[in-house]
Amino acid sequence: MELKTYQDYNAMSSAAADMIIDCVRKKPQALLCFATGDTPRLTYQILAENSKRDKIDFSKCFMIGLDEWLGISPDNTGTCHHFLHTWLLQPLSIDPSQIHLFDGLTPNEEEECERMNNLITKKGPIDFMVVGVGMNGHIGFNEPGTDIESLAHVAILDHTTRTVGKKYFRDDVQINRGITLGLKQVMQAETLLMIANGKKKAPVIKQAVSEKISNSFPASLIQRHSNAILMTDNEAASELEILQT
Ligand code: GLP
Repeated sequence: MELKTYQDYNAMSSAAADMIIDCVRKKPQALLCFATGDTPRLTYQILAENSKRDKIDFSKCFMIGLDEWLGISPDNTGTCHHFLHTWLLQPLSIDPSQIHLFDGLTPNEEEECERMNNLITKKGPIDFMVVGVGMNGHIGFNEPGTDIESLAHVAILDHTTRTVGKKYFRDDVQINRGITLGLKQVMQAETLLMIANGKKKAPVIKQAVSEKISNSFPASLIQRHSNAILMTDNEAASELEILQT
């Protein structure tokens, strides 16, 4: 794992966007996987702007979503579906035939997971995966204790995720369960980019990189990935003893 720290959120987001563009330049038919949340929003905005400016061709890529809240309509502005369409897929004019996101309203959760697993088997491995990190160290909805061999699955969200997750929703919705790619799929991504910013993520980043690797803190698994980059701003890296740039 390589750690890269940047002066602020802008600089980190810009570097993250550059990495995604670089991947698509090198491999136009790349399979890309994207997280949602407050962290990657600016990365996606910069990605869309720079791609337009530099005429980056995304027409051969395939894009998948990392996770989704279960039981909530995709029209709800708090969903991953809504987020990805708003900040990434529409601005980049990605054709619906190039996208597969989890359906949070699926009547058959098992089939929904299978659909995603089959797609990754067919089109994969995932060339580039962008993930954030939850306040409890989760990646996607791989909560503490998730099996490291897991594929796409339904997750019962823990207290921290349910509490923190309220920030995405305007209404008082029930966010008890999520659907997510599994840790095995995260670890099998050719390039894994984890991004984190802000003071509140400092203890999480410290635990992810300087403590023991364990699925009881899923973000720590990044240390074991052979091609992972952890990008943070200075605030998120402020509890680390050694800063690298
Ligand atoms: C959410 C999502 C994750 C996301 C993480 C961090 O619950 N399921 O995919 O990466 O928590 O979110 P944020 O960037 O808002 O801190």
